[in-house]
Amino acid sequence: MDDLTDLVAHARHVRARAYAPYSRYAVGAAIRADDGSIHVGCNVENAAYPEGLCAEAVALGAMVAAGRRRLVAVAVAGGDAETPPTPCGGCRQKLMEFAAPGAEVAVADGENGPIRRMRLDALLPGAFGGGGGE
Ligand code: THU
Repeated sequence: MDDLTDLVAHARHVRARAYAPYSRYAVGAAIRADDGSIHVGCNVENAAYPEGLCAEAVALGAMVAAGRRRLVAVAVAGGDAETPPTPCGGCRQKLMEFAAPGAEVAVADGENGPIRRMRLDALLPGAFGGGGGE
């Protein structure tokens, strides 16, 4: 079984490029598409705070821009080992739009801490639409 270690490594790597001068909370994300390709993103904040972009949304945009529309796994890296970032509500909905059945989410700190994994559909019970990027 895929332990998602490589995807977490990509998320940790891109986290270094986060633009987070307001929260000082750097996040990296990596998405594996159904063809095995990996697409990364980091959070990109803005002086108008609500305009900031989450790492997951940036990675998702990169995937779609690369021509892929189905994700099988997402890794998110940031914070500390006790409280790594799980995708926010808005990102759960964004990710679900393109999620393959059984798509997984792996969360981890920015260093070498343990990886926690969960299913995306468990993070968004009763989801409105989405699934598969059809
Ligand atoms: N953030 C993400 O990019 N992904 C998450 O999963 C949680 C939060 C960002 C948004 C904001 O730039 C900063 O982390 C603090 O909330």
